[in-house]
Amino acid sequence: MNFREVNFVASFPKESACPKEDKPEFAFIGRSNVGKSSLINMLTGKKALAKVSVTPGKTQLINYFDIDGEWHLVDLPGYGYAKVSKDKKQVFSKMINDYLLKRKQLFIAFVLIDSRHELQKIDKTFIDWCGENEIPFAIIFTKADKLGKTQLDASINKILKELKKVWEILPPYFITSSETKLGRENVLNYIAELLETIH
Ligand code: GTP
Ligand code: MG
Repeated sequence: MNFREVNFVASFPKESACPKEDKPEFAFIGRSNVGKSSLINMLTGKKALAKVSVTPGKTQLINYFDIDGEWHLVDLPGYGYAKVSKDKKQVFSKMINDYLLKRKQLFIAFVLIDSRHELQKIDKTFIDWCGENEIPFAIIFTKADKLGKTQLDASINKILKELKKVWEILPPYFITSSETKLGRENVLNYIAELLETIH
């Protein structure tokens, strides 16, 4: 998939303030620092579109990016960052939950998981919550470049095995690196397939 035009639309503090138009939305969600903003830049091929930071908690609002005037990529704040104050955590979690539960334009939420680590409790809780609330989601494993092939396979298999304890059928999943662009075509083809269902 090639894009003709990619533009930052604006940032919004809550779901009710988000654009009213009915363009399909693809949202990126996951623990703070997992690589959501980097992935959006990698997918769009625009290095500085979404702000990336080594400090977790960079994305604090719901950020909209318009693709070819036809659909939106949505960068959500990260969940579960320990150093964010309790009040702020509640604001983030309400922002994310509200968005996911209410957003009619949402086609799918991509839940990002760091491929290097075991499945974290907060990720498992979040994924189970998506299931219980019938939020359509797929999983994106990030930072694949940080592990060798054998370690990467082992780490991802371990996470999938954990998920299989709860999920009879696994959600679609993609293995990516924003550094090497691994998985770019697979994710974009998947988005294209979903977009075709409305044409
Ligand atoms: P918040 O907005 O704070 O929730 O974080 P985020 O999930 O948007 O993460 P962000 O894209 O800002 O990336 C966090 C850090 O991880 C940055 O230092 C990135 O350069 C690094 N990073 C992200 N993706 C990758 C990747 O695929 N490979 C490597 N090696 N580093 C990555
Ligand atoms: Mg971010």
